[in-house]
Amino acid sequence: MDLLRLNSRVETSWKKKWQKLIFETQTLIHLNPAGSNIARVKLINNHTQSNKMIETKNLSKIFRTDEVETTALNRVSFQVEEGEFVAVMGPSGCGKSTLLNLLGLIDNPTSGQLLFLDSEVSAFREKQRANLRKRNIGFVFQNFNLIDELNVFENVELPLIYLGIGKSERKQKVHQVLERMQIMHRRNHFPLQLSGGQQQRVAVARAVVANPKLILADEPTGNLDSANGEEVMMLLSQLNESGTTIIMVTHSQHDATYAKRIIHLFDGQIVTENFAAKT
Ligand SMILES: Nc1ncnc2c1ncn2[C@@H]1O[C@H](COP(=O)(O)OP(=O)(O)O)[C@@H](O)[C@H]1O
Ligand SMILES: [Mg+2]
Repeated sequence: MDLLRLNSRVETSWKKKWQKLIFETQTLIHLNPAGSNIARVKLINNHTQSNKMIETKNLSKIFRTDEVETTALNRVSFQVEEGEFVAVMGPSGCGKSTLLNLLGLIDNPTSGQLLFLDSEVSAFREKQRANLRKRNIGFVFQNFNLIDELNVFENVELPLIYLGIGKSERKQKVHQVLERMQIMHRRNHFPLQLSGGQQQRVAVARAVVANPKLILADEPTGNLDSANGEEVMMLLSQLNESGTTIIMVTHSQHDATYAKRIIHLFDGQIVTENFAAKT
């Protein structure tokens, strides 16, 4: 499938725009510390300064409509080190997805600071955020968010296309990750021909194929039965053991035991943090 045709298909609906947003563009460009708009290019993979992946300082997000103002996140400050596995828990509406969207550079905060690998990114424009996302962040969602018109291979290939990786290398990488996720035998199937568990394995494959430093998972087992949920948690756990940082929103006490730290949110604020959930 050629890239132009793929792009025009990808742009046709909200969901597909979402996918494009996640995977677009190539290099990390960030503003210099003086805040001038002379952009300098930094390959985050070469970063050696510290082992801090994320730091937020008084991060707030307020949604405003004509009549209502919702403070979804209220001055949230915390850090995530490289290699951590953090669970974010809290009741429905407390701001978990909003937080994940900010950390994933899908949305900008209303106020406060967000440092991603020591770069202040809270005022980044969409193109800059996309640059950073594409190389560093993989997403896994409750409802899988696969593109129904693309088969398994093509769904997983998409982030590599947006990275500009050549065809034969793409094929090799996709096959490798499909083998790892034990879904290779379904590579020519379309998402709707797969079970929920299989779809989520494909989504995890897509999230990791470009070897991101950070995986953000929003209730990744929320639509799965317990056996399939367990399988997805094992996959995330293995990825974390091999060095990938994971931040996962979950309602499940059981899933949270896979994390090494649990952050509890309530009404947009961190109320407690627990370490070493799993023995
Ligand atoms: N795009 C939006 N516009 C207006 N309000 C929103 C938007 N997204 C989230 N909210 C509100 O922000 C609060 C937090 O939402 P969310 O982060 O989705 O919670 P959670 O994921 O913990 O269930 C809720 O009150 C929700 O209604
Ligand atoms: Mg949510």
